[in-house]
Amino acid sequence: MTAYGRIAYTTLVAFLASLLTLLAAYALSPDRPRPTAPPPEVSRQIDREMLARHDTAEDCWMAIHGRVYDFTGYLPDHPTPIRVLIPYCGTDASEGWDTKGVSRPHSPAAHAMLPDYEIGVLAD
Ligand code: HEM
Repeated sequence: MTAYGRIAYTTLVAFLASLLTLLAAYALSPDRPRPTAPPPEVSRQIDREMLARHDTAEDCWMAIHGRVYDFTGYLPDHPTPIRVLIPYCGTDASEGWDTKGVSRPHSPAAHAMLPDYEIGVLAD
């Protein structure tokens, strides 16, 4: 390699090295603009007064452990006669849910159904 070639090669390597250093500094910089995260889901707050207004077979909301569900469409599919559930409509039904009214918990399959009916969280 000629002296001229060596100088050109050294210059190129030095240039690439500084470019890499700059890129690394930018990537690690805490000030680098980050993609904006989507805002956290804001759950609808439902207070007890509002919950209590949905206390019939035609419009049945229940609170279970801090979350509120609209079970109106599910009532006819529940394996018991509908009258077992009606008293829980419009109320905090956590205990009914936990015990089925007979000291037996609902199955994991029943628990897995809850998210489909969730409409909000119970406001303090
Ligand atoms: C909160 C009031 C409720 C009460 C008092 C209640 C009570 C009962 C009772 C007495 C049974 C039949 C007996 C048994 O299988 O052990 C039962 C079964 C069942 N219930 Fe409920 N239930 C309630 C709410 C719900 C809700 C909201 C769902 C669904 C979202 C549900 C889903 C089921 C399912 C899938 C079964 C079949 C057995 C099982 O998977 O545990 N129940 N429930």
